[in-house]
Amino acid sequence: MCGIIGYAGPRQAAPILLEGLKRMEYRGYDSSGICVGTADGAGSTSYSLALVKKIGKIQALRQVVPKDFPGSWGIGHTRWATHGAVTDRNAHPLLDNSGRIACVHNGIIENYRALREMLEGEGVVFQSETDSEVIPNLVAKYYEGDLESAVKAALANLQGTYGIAVIHAAEPGRIVGARNGSPLVIGIGDGEMFLASDVTAMISHTKQVVYLNDGELVVVDSSGFRTTDREDRHVDKKIEKVSWELGAIEKGDYPCYMEKEIFEQPESIERALGGRIDFETASAKLAGLNLDRRRLGEISRVEVIAAGTSWHAGLVGVGLLERMARIPASAELASELRYRNPVVQRDSLYFAVSQSGETADTLYALREMQRKGGHVLGICNVVGSTIARESEGGIYVHSGPEIAVASTKAFTSQLAAFYLFSLLMSRMRDLSISEGSRFARALAGVPEQVKKVLAGRDEIQRIAKKYSHSRDFLFLGRGLMYPIALEGALKLKEISYIHAEGYAAGEIKHGPIALVTPEVPSLFLVPDDELREKTLSNMKEIKARGGPVIAVGVEGDDEVAATADDFIATPRMDPRFYPFTMVVPLQLFAYFCALDLGRDVDQPRNLAKSVTVE
Ligand code: AGP
Ligand code: GLU
Repeated sequence: MCGIIGYAGPRQAAPILLEGLKRMEYRGYDSSGICVGTADGAGSTSYSLALVKKIGKIQALRQVVPKDFPGSWGIGHTRWATHGAVTDRNAHPLLDNSGRIACVHNGIIENYRALREMLEGEGVVFQSETDSEVIPNLVAKYYEGDLESAVKAALANLQGTYGIAVIHAAEPGRIVGARNGSPLVIGIGDGEMFLASDVTAMISHTKQVVYLNDGELVVVDSSGFRTTDREDRHVDKKIEKVSWELGAIEKGDYPCYMEKEIFEQPESIERALGGRIDFETASAKLAGLNLDRRRLGEISRVEVIAAGTSWHAGLVGVGLLERMARIPASAELASELRYRNPVVQRDSLYFAVSQSGETADTLYALREMQRKGGHVLGICNVVGSTIARESEGGIYVHSGPEIAVASTKAFTSQLAAFYLFSLLMSRMRDLSISEGSRFARALAGVPEQVKKVLAGRDEIQRIAKKYSHSRDFLFLGRGLMYPIALEGALKLKEISYIHAEGYAAGEIKHGPIALVTPEVPSLFLVPDDELREKTLSNMKEIKARGGPVIAVGVEGDDEVAATADDFIATPRMDPRFYPFTMVVPLQLFAYFCALDLGRDVDQPRNLAKSVTVE
């Protein structure tokens, strides 16, 4: 689930491992540790493993790593506990009984109980409560002088998901890695090699990377790497270049990543649209879909598979698609879809939407749809991610690395991808060239409009301060604003821990209105679309029951401003584009509430950036 880093080369490993762990902090974790191979004495050719682990932040780990911690190869880990409490002992790396083998593991070993009992029967004494500790002990069981074969033999026993890195004191400079459901990337440096679960961990050292696939195993040492599959056959890998710079994962002048990422949106949306609007034909160019016009023309249904914020983007996307291209479309929660034995139709198109491209729920749903013959495309941000590689084509949203756990810029870029796809599909159906041109121009103008919303930050901060001590919140909207209400509520709860519910505004009278009191504020999204009057009536219903109301509306809408207690104005636009501009005040609102409450905005409690377990 969380972070793995490995280093083999001429330099001291510990500072590199600690830096890598620090860069993966954003993924969310509860403990961390490093283990390096160190010579038994000056000039000695025998080695031992030195291990340090600590619960809490990387800073806490740094403090317990001795100043003199020599060793030129090693592994490190940030743990997001699944099996066993958050304790120093349960943190990784985990050693085998002899203390000669160390392993870090992301994922879950489902059959660990049986393996543990079997190993205990053979005399192994376990030191932790984790599922992962069976791995180093299995490796030890099979070790006969070659770490690679021992790891391979150990893996044959495992059921579940893993990304692992293993070292042995008897094999200096060597790291064995393997993946099955949890990402692992090899980094190729100059006379040094890296292994990590996330490119960000090694980007300050190298941009040359190789992505491992499920079922592959790699052996790295300072001179290079070798990859094999489960049947021990050599696998040829392509070296890829990471396209973004180190600056993209640094905060710059911002106090935290979330604020940086919110304010980056005019540029990130621009990048998502970059070169993809074809003004001449009033359509969109999406070569990555790998579908010709005939095949696109045959599509009679679109289904989105996603989780969390990506699902909300999907809900907006399908609403737009249905409205513009008149294609039946729906967005499904990946975690539900995969166990529902879904009906897959050959003329349907499936989109797996995921910022990280590693979300287990979405990935497994994608595989299930593919098994049933579904044609699945990806809408991903992380280039080279598993979902991007396993789908048959798709749209990269090019937001650049998103570090804050709360997704913001990826959301608006995912919207951009759906707007492009909707333009393409509707132009192939019954949208005229003049209507298409109007849409294309409005889409190209979105970054400018988002900039205007961002300029209102102080007013949003003022309003957030006024309400940040509320315990409950309702977020309400209709039509395309319903998913935005869901997204606003998700943002608020995940980073401020204020309980918030997103609802379709028309639904409140069917139950949630019972919650309304002077202590429970409602935030309404009220664009000047065909549903404005209806939403306004819902606002009045809340006001009549003494509930405070904040409205995000359109500049110059005096009636909405006068009805609400607080009003956030956004620029007047073609109503189809309000999801872009109206989500931004909600991101800022959640951010400023969290700030006011002193929360850890970038790394909220209990959450991980990329959820690679079910
Ligand atoms: C967003 O703020 C959340 N942290 C979360 O809901 C997230 O959107 C979800 O886990 C899906 O992630 P993905 O886009 O990387 O698949
Ligand atoms: N299941 C393992 C544990 O609880 C690994 C968790 C992770 O992916 O960080 O230790």
